[in-house]
Amino acid sequence: MIYLDNAATSWPKPPEVAQAMTDFLQRAGGNPGRSGHTLSIEAGRTIYAVREQVATLFNAADPMRVLFTLNGTHALNLALRGLLRPGDRVVASAMEHNAVMRPLRQLEREGVSLEVAPCRRDGTLELGALERAVSPGTRLVVMLHASNVTGTIMPVAEAAAIAHRAGALFLLDAAQSAGALPLDMQALGVDLLAFTGHKSLLGPPGTGGLVLGAGVDVSELEPLYRGGTGSRSESEQQPSDLPDKYESGTPNGVGIAGLGAALDWIARRGLAAIRAHEEALTETLIDGLRALPGVSMHGTGDARMSTAVVSFAHESLTVSEIGLRLDEEHGILTRVGLHCAPAAHRTIGTFPSGTVRLAPGPFTTRDDVEAAVRSIAAVLRP
Ligand SMILES: Cc1ncc(COP(=O)(O)O)c(C=O)c1O
Repeated sequence: MIYLDNAATSWPKPPEVAQAMTDFLQRAGGNPGRSGHTLSIEAGRTIYAVREQVATLFNAADPMRVLFTLNGTHALNLALRGLLRPGDRVVASAMEHNAVMRPLRQLEREGVSLEVAPCRRDGTLELGALERAVSPGTRLVVMLHASNVTGTIMPVAEAAAIAHRAGALFLLDAAQSAGALPLDMQALGVDLLAFTGHKSLLGPPGTGGLVLGAGVDVSELEPLYRGGTGSRSESEQQPSDLPDKYESGTPNGVGIAGLGAALDWIARRGLAAIRAHEEALTETLIDGLRALPGVSMHGTGDARMSTAVVSFAHESLTVSEIGLRLDEEHGILTRVGLHCAPAAHRTIGTFPSGTVRLAPGPFTTRDDVEAAVRSIAAVLRP
């Protein structure tokens, strides 16, 4: 079996991830922050250590501003719902995932005004169009770092600067880039960074978070829900301390411990080495597919301008037929269709039929992607 669906969730995980999760259950199974006993303190320590690892990875100023959530969608909802009020203006790119578009469309129904900045057919952002979409009244600009459909990398620093010039905050959806690309939120000017733990960060499902930069006034960010935090138990009001304000209820300590082991693995291997490996695999896929008759490639066609995501379609076979035959006849696992991103597919001209998406990961080898190209050629052969 060749797994080429790492953009949906990474697999396999480093073996240390499962080990750390088992260890947490066996060694540190108390409820963090809820009791003063040894197991509770140990659980709290483990979670705090991962907060620090996340802060280091993204160069966030303060680990207490790393808020753990269940996934990227949860983090994005916290940021969007927490910041935007009726009458506010928000700008998003035309490549966004439904984890951004669905909350924004709902907020639009509740009185928030939404402007979508157009992108080119290869998924790249037109900075001039963004500049025109952002105005002095804009509260927030939200954009993904890399597209889950084409892998196209967005000009984050330039987009954040446009937001800031208009007095807006900049929210980055790093679901496809965290763990795959270097990401220094202070250097890039990212005010809020939403990440997911189960994709390129190589952690387990049920992990993710929102990282707040120093420019975010937390008195203006409402929690998504309220409840027990283990702190200030005398009060029936939600505490304002971080991260408790946004982390009510028992956290996913097991998952967070697994995420910590994954972050250790990434630090040992090095982001630059991971990026170089994935870029080379992406290039092999692009070159191999380009040579196949009847194939249309989507995205920039340049591995240096994209994460490890390659999308294609064929002139006569449907994407579901290709995906099914790759799986059943060749053991190659891909994701076909619209990838929860109808806006992106409209932008690149593949709506509603979609594309076949190939997404190698750090454990994919050159042999794997060469075998995948041969199998795709066999499936497409008339
Ligand atoms: C660009 C993008 N944003 C957000 C998400 C949502 O992440 P999660 O599945 O962790 O909620 C995804 C996942 O597919 C994604 O690709």
